[in-house]
Amino acid sequence: MNIEVKLTDTPKPKPTDESKLGFGSIFTDHMFIMEFNGDKGWEHARIEKFHDIAVSPAANVFHYGQEVFEGMKAYYNSGEIFIFRPDMNAKRINNSLQRLCMPKIDEEDFVEAVKKFVEVEKEWVPKSDGTTLYLRPFVIGLDSKLGVHPSSNYYFIIIAAPGGAYYARGIAPVSIWVEDEYVRAVRGGVGFTKTGGNYAASLLGQEKAEEHGCEQTLWLDGVERKYIEEVGSMNICFKIDGKIVTPMLNGSILPGVTRDSVITLCKDFGYEVEERRVSLDELMKAADSGKLEECFGTGTACVISPVGYLVNKDKKIVINEGKIGSLSQKLYDTLTGIQYNKLEDKHNWRVKVC
Ligand code: COI
Repeated sequence: MNIEVKLTDTPKPKPTDESKLGFGSIFTDHMFIMEFNGDKGWEHARIEKFHDIAVSPAANVFHYGQEVFEGMKAYYNSGEIFIFRPDMNAKRINNSLQRLCMPKIDEEDFVEAVKKFVEVEKEWVPKSDGTTLYLRPFVIGLDSKLGVHPSSNYYFIIIAAPGGAYYARGIAPVSIWVEDEYVRAVRGGVGFTKTGGNYAASLLGQEKAEEHGCEQTLWLDGVERKYIEEVGSMNICFKIDGKIVTPMLNGSILPGVTRDSVITLCKDFGYEVEERRVSLDELMKAADSGKLEECFGTGTACVISPVGYLVNKDKKIVINEGKIGSLSQKLYDTLTGIQYNKLEDKHNWRVKVC
């Protein structure tokens, strides 16, 4: 793919205090953008100054939500920059695009666009421990027609934000509210895609969680409201009686890249891993009998987020005394060790950018 690079002549000052980066609120100097124009396909790939885009107020994305996105990160270590399993994001964005009747992107072009963009923005990749350049590739439908049809015109854009931990308290255990009124997704719908609508559907549950003093929502399946699906912006994993248990991918759960990596690492560590239906009832019983040893969320943004408390109606379960468990810590250390080129990468997950 030919990517034209037009560098800005008015670069912004970079953040000086990396301990105050937060998540996703400062953006770099440039953006990658390419257009899909009907029969002509994807064209005009370019990297240019980060700017607002002019889109018709009638554009499909605003009314019918033709939008998909990805979350990725670039990692700095000793003058080198890496990304992690970009082929997985390329495959997943195409699964999302297909479900939303949007045009696919050649997987090699997707990875090339991400790498080239990171290379252009290399000075923006923060250097302190635990910081990354968060990458947000996304595609939006542009047609300005109010009939409910797929667009013929799209933008594929990548923006980037230097950031620290996703949660303000870093890797400290979070508390989770079990939501039994609202649901996030149902099988046959778009739960397995990374589309904005799934996150819009989660906002009210998130507000409820916060009203109950929790940081995140644990979603149950949309039909029986019995089985555990995922948490706010992460997949969920449990250590029950020595085994690793995580809800199986059933069409309404996001197939997380970190989830997949964690399953592989747990097997490498010698654990038995079960991907299956996990009911809330099973979890409550495991907690009551002392068999629920650890619980943690997995996601690109949060990496590994230990869960210290589960609140179900008026019952509060404390997991591992509200502290980070040894497996959660080991997974965090191993994953970030691989991502930052500090540990051996036997699965070839790390990709050097420059
Ligand atoms: C990610 O983990 O990259 C995500 O996309 C979660 C996000 C909604 C903050």
